[in-house]
Amino acid sequence: MARSALLNVMVQAAIKAGKSLGRDFGEVQNLQVSVKGPSDFVSQADIKAERIVRDELLKARPTYGFLGEESEEIIGTDGAHRWIVDPLDGTTNFLHGIPQFAVSIALERNGEIVAGVVFNPATDELFAAERGGGAFLNDRRLRVAARRVLSDAVIGCGVPHLGRGQHGKFLVELRHVMGEAAGIRRLGAASLDLAWVAAGRLDGFWETDLKIWDMAAGLLLIREAGGFTSDMKGGNAIFDEGSVVAGNEHIHKALLDVANRPVPSR
Ligand code: IPD
Ligand code: CA
Ligand code: CA
Repeated sequence: MARSALLNVMVQAAIKAGKSLGRDFGEVQNLQVSVKGPSDFVSQADIKAERIVRDELLKARPTYGFLGEESEEIIGTDGAHRWIVDPLDGTTNFLHGIPQFAVSIALERNGEIVAGVVFNPATDELFAAERGGGAFLNDRRLRVAARRVLSDAVIGCGVPHLGRGQHGKFLVELRHVMGEAAGIRRLGAASLDLAWVAAGRLDGFWETDLKIWDMAAGLLLIREAGGFTSDMKGGNAIFDEGSVVAGNEHIHKALLDVANRPVPSR
């Protein structure tokens, strides 16, 4: 794929931070057996990865703003551009030695996402997209899956957990979707979940209570792979609502309808 200079900067930053995470992931796997576990080590790995991404991006474009999960937002002197970064998405997986985590980097221009990179260093899979230029996994052009009905579809989701999210509301959504879909998956890194929809591995995905850095890059990947995205109400306020529903035209619509069905009366 021909990449613009900007996308190259993002790819290099993701690979550099990914190398650091990859080294630390090896260490985390060794720490599983210690009673204290690897949590402190993982928060350091996360902060280190953000520093690497931030330094690389701001070295290349010193005037752009920077919003990363692990540090104070930097407001750029260039009012139009902002980097949106999750240096380690899928922290719980990383912490438990599960190789499903990623560095996610998006570029926003005048409020719109124009480039996105999601890199999983454990599998060496690099997902990248630029607006109007298509979405790619390494050198392969991506297209969302073509399945039209939920009964054939494998659907990804996020599951709320201890102290996070709306447990009751999720159980209602799950109850409806699992009754109609061929399979449900909870893979644990939202940026990769979205990238996997772009790659046609998942036919659809929904999750609520997400942040902009979980979704920004992955959403562009899906749109550039021919997919549809909206918030849980079917609108465009994905970042404000913190919710997303995604798939091809048919699965997106079906998932939206089914997940939003009212609670059944007994
Ligand atoms: C989390 C992951 C997870 C999603 C959570 C996110 P983090 O991000 O994307 O899949 O379900 O809501 O917070 O904390 O690993 O960067
Ligand atoms: Ca995240
Ligand atoms: Ca994170």
